[in-house]
Amino acid sequence: MAPQIITTIAKLREAVRAIRAAGRSLGLVPTMGALHDGHLSLVKRSNERCDVTLVTIFVNPTQFGPNEDLEKYPRTLDADLEALSELQVDIVFAPSNDELYPANFSTFVETAQVAEPLEGECRPGHFRGVITIVMKLFQIATADVAFFGRKDYQQAAVIQAMVRDLNVPIEVEVCPIIREEGGLALSSRNRYLTNDEREQSLAISRSLRMAEQLVCNGERDPTVVQRAIRQEFDTAGIDRIEYIAIANGETLEPAEQIDEGTVALIAAFVGSTRLIDNCLIGQSIAD
Ligand code: PAJ
Repeated sequence: MAPQIITTIAKLREAVRAIRAAGRSLGLVPTMGALHDGHLSLVKRSNERCDVTLVTIFVNPTQFGPNEDLEKYPRTLDADLEALSELQVDIVFAPSNDELYPANFSTFVETAQVAEPLEGECRPGHFRGVITIVMKLFQIATADVAFFGRKDYQQAAVIQAMVRDLNVPIEVEVCPIIREEGGLALSSRNRYLTNDEREQSLAISRSLRMAEQLVCNGERDPTVVQRAIRQEFDTAGIDRIEYIAIANGETLEPAEQIDEGTVALIAAFVGSTRLIDNCLIGQSIAD
């Protein structure tokens, strides 16, 4: 069955009231559209856990920097709705810019500390835009659980910190990264890649698998692992690296030694496309 498409906040609130009145639980999956199997894995998880799933599709302008790809960000609403119909999603909220950011809009959520390094340094203001829109969606949807992907590791951490710090009454579930067969993490931006760039980009996930293996074999020195990742990038000819970080999985501060909670995070340009990926490289220590 095709989902109900709602474009106004008032109508969405009405729909949520009806869901609540029927005693049904509500799962929220915020997206910017151009849906792929990564997004759909969140939808499936919400379907599993909640009676009703609400997917939001909104390309949020406040999280894009002045030189970023807001204008050319892929918009594929018809295909998105078809994919969501197949998964029997109940409601899609696809508002206009003016609906969420009317002319007098002027309040933003201040980001947490975990927003400062890595993406925070490379994309100033990005997380301020992300958590402001996420907070707005939380307030509008009043869902029981919201689902996010570990693909955007720092984003999930920033949202979790906001929920904790501002006592937002919602549970956040962070779901695994979905990858293509070759290892490339699915991303709406992958469609910008040429065939050659796609091949080159495989070095990102390959280097993370190698890092994981090094740790599994007993390596605990972050600089050794970092250097090995960089080597993989050099070999692949990826020279525009924004960061290769070996960090504490909670604070995202640089790890002094690799332990169970250590995460490796990467951001690099392949051609003109900025890709990010990460791996919980310390997990084998826990096993
Ligand atoms: P978007 O990039 O559309 O991603 C929506 C959700 O899908 C995010 O939680 C993201 O982490 C998840 N996702 C993307 N690729 C994934 C993959 N390969 N595997 C698993 N999950 C994946 O992230 C945003 O939108 C926006 O910042 C948003 C939170 C909607 C706020 O505007």
